[in-house]
Amino acid sequence: MTVQLPWWQREAFYEVYPRSFQDSDGDGVGDLPGLLRRLDYLADLGVGAVWITPFFPSPQRDFGYDVADYCGVDPTMGSLADFDRLVQEAHRRGLRVVLDLVANHTSSDHPWFVEARTSRASRRRDWYVWRDPAPDGGPPNNWLSFFGGPAWTLDAATGQYYLHQFLPEQPDLNYRNPAVLAAMEEVVRFWLDRGADGFRVDAAWLLVEDEKFRDEPPNPAWRPGMRERDRLVHLHTEDQPETHAVLRRLRAVLEEYRDRQPVLVGEVYLPFHRLVSYYGSSEEPECHFPFNFALVDLPPEEWTAQTLGSLVASYEAALPPWAWPSWVLGNHDRPRVASRLGEERSRLAHLLLLTLRGTPTLYYGDELGLPDGVVSPDRVRDTAGFREWGGRWSRDAARTPMPWDPGPQAGFTTGEPWLPLNPDFPRRNVQLQRQDSRSFLQLVRRLLHLRRSHPALVSGSWRLREAPPGVLAYRREGEDETFLVALNFRVQPARLELAAEVLLSTFLDREGWERSLELRGHEGLLARLRA
Ligand code: GLC
Repeated sequence: MTVQLPWWQREAFYEVYPRSFQDSDGDGVGDLPGLLRRLDYLADLGVGAVWITPFFPSPQRDFGYDVADYCGVDPTMGSLADFDRLVQEAHRRGLRVVLDLVANHTSSDHPWFVEARTSRASRRRDWYVWRDPAPDGGPPNNWLSFFGGPAWTLDAATGQYYLHQFLPEQPDLNYRNPAVLAAMEEVVRFWLDRGADGFRVDAAWLLVEDEKFRDEPPNPAWRPGMRERDRLVHLHTEDQPETHAVLRRLRAVLEEYRDRQPVLVGEVYLPFHRLVSYYGSSEEPECHFPFNFALVDLPPEEWTAQTLGSLVASYEAALPPWAWPSWVLGNHDRPRVASRLGEERSRLAHLLLLTLRGTPTLYYGDELGLPDGVVSPDRVRDTAGFREWGGRWSRDAARTPMPWDPGPQAGFTTGEPWLPLNPDFPRRNVQLQRQDSRSFLQLVRRLLHLRRSHPALVSGSWRLREAPPGVLAYRREGEDETFLVALNFRVQPARLELAAEVLLSTFLDREGWERSLELRGHEGLLARLRA
């Protein structure tokens, strides 16, 4: 008998960066009513959950990842009523809505922090992490922040430093104070009560730091060009045991709503053997899955059959037997997959993403083969882009507006878009790709629909198969059907001596029974094996 899997295992997730998805009021910034207008597009594409990055009231120093009120909607994004309508309309279309829980830090404008910094005696003081200056007046230890500079900023009025793993405008919450966790639990209940279907926990591996505030040792592997922060080995600021206790508590809140199967996903950048601890245990669960960013981190020159085969195999081997895998190709923090790999290999990457075991998460625009945008240094808006890369690169490149049609402003806004449109939008947009039977969009849509209609592609076993050099091949075997996926990462053709029914080529130009599978250069095939 087939057991019905929970929705977060069956369905593909789709990340929406709401500022850049669809504007509804002409201010050039996307919003919730805009997203609502595009729900039909998402339902038709075939994804099952929309993860919306933060839309809460915020001074926008980190575009929403600096929250000033966890239980509201930023006026540029709409209102709580807009959120309610969005959830209702999403559910009507069978789409789940996953929110971003920015649990590690607040905005420095959040009333909690405003109150905490009024005096050392403030009742909220201990909601954040404060330390006296070092004897020379400098920061209390050598910890570095993600976006450049020390992880400590002096609050001159009270004479102490506060901790921030990200911008100085993003002070870290102190989870050693039970009141903080209790407050965050209330935030989770607030949104679940309003119909949210779960959360992606931002910076989930950074929630707690070393209690003794020990210096971090230098990183011998650091080379120029790497992040400034990675000059240190993060023994004391990442992946602390106490972090797991926080995630267990958040998960327990979700369990109160068990009948709706809300999901907890973690943003965790760690190697597999440490990543898997974020599932917790079957008795004390934490995340339903932590994102697996291995394909985002894999340098373009390492996208070879051999490397990918061992990468997938080592991830599968690291997972506890009951743990559900996750795969991701891109997000709002990293260069887009089409720019990393080019169009053809990016098609292969999507075939891979959507036929591996586990929940795939797509990033908006990647389904069009959208490359990074061109954001000149004078148009950069991402603070991290200035602080870390002097504006030469910024995360804005991966956050440019969704190109919907070839008309004015690509159908994204009637005003001036907050970031420039990709210059190729008259040729690369949803409307045109819908009409083109071999477009990137059609490939992703077909794959999503195939996944939905063949359970073996979702929950079947995964096994590597022998293949000619340059070809990654694996079987997905379910109760009723077995599939073969073959991806040719070389430009030379290759052949697999195997009869199968081709259901899809990444070039979308062939289907049907073949006596042996001939793969063109950079072609990927999804084929069904004879029962
Ligand atoms: C996460 C987000 C990133 C944000 C940071 C701080 O890494 O994905 O966009 O800047 O956390 O909240």
